Amino acid sequence: MPKETVLARAKLNLTLDVLGKRPDGYHDLKMVMQSVALSDTLTVETGTGEDLKVRTDLSFLPNNEKNLAASAALAFQAQTGRDLGGVAIAIEKHIPVCAGMGGGSSDAAAVLRALNGMLGAGCEPLALAKIGEAVGSDVPYCVLGGTALAEGRGEVLTPLPALPRCHVVICKPAFSISTPELFRAVDGVRLKCRPDTDGVLTALAAGDLGGVARRMYNVFEDVLPPRQQAEVRNIRSVLVQHGALGANMSGTGPTVFGLFDDPDRARSAWEELKQTYRDTFLTETV
Ligand code: C5P
Repeated sequence: MPKETVLARAKLNLTLDVLGKRPDGYHDLKMVMQSVALSDTLTVETGTGEDLKVRTDLSFLPNNEKNLAASAALAFQAQTGRDLGGVAIAIEKHIPVCAGMGGGSSDAAAVLRALNGMLGAGCEPLALAKIGEAVGSDVPYCVLGGTALAEGRGEVLTPLPALPRCHVVICKPAFSISTPELFRAVDGVRLKCRPDTDGVLTALAAGDLGGVARRMYNVFEDVLPPRQQAEVRNIRSVLVQHGALGANMSGTGPTVFGLFDDPDRARSAWEELKQTYRDTFLTETV
């Protein structure tokens, strides 16, 4: 039976702006996204002759269609009309769950890429991204990866000049935040501060890593409950004290990451943060 092993990379938000609420209940967003080497590993097998099966190494994750990876396989089948003959997906998780790093969306995107190749469906990346729209708002970006501007619900994508390669320290505090709740919180306030997205785009075009890092901002940080906000800010100060060019919360959090041009400084930030936070990673942009 055809079988393929693929990587699903984590994403980070270099910027995240919420422009407003839409009639369909979603929000219009403007985000600069970046993928990093930290990845889940998926093995996708077709022609099993059995019902769709998902297995993960984290017992609390769903192993049915509620898992975005399964939902992606079903969407691929429905949209391309290809008969998969039964699919089994095994997921080895490394990207923290509910962390604002798009782990589930990236797993879904990896399934779409794997099935496209295995079945020779010949979907271009943008067509594959389109199939991902029904699975989740971040799935289309995860299909493309790299550095990109995501607008609309997150599905309107513009590839950008790649962020200059750099070292990234990622730290996820132990609390988790409900995504719909954070969107509701943003709806209820006048945001004090917005990211300078145009400035980030200009810095990317100039290959100016420091210029990007200095301008990173995520509006969700403003509406975190006070204790969580303090913890996010504390992680940011540790990253900056160790020499991060900039640090930001990713997605709806709570993960905070810092960008470094110096591997030794990145390592020392990682070493300090991992003493307090189990989910601390040293990785790089891809
Ligand atoms: O599309 P996805 O299932 O990832 O979205 C999860 C939730 O996040 C939505 O139900 C919605 O509450 C919120 N969301 C939003 N606007 C977006 C993306 C997500 O309000 N652009």
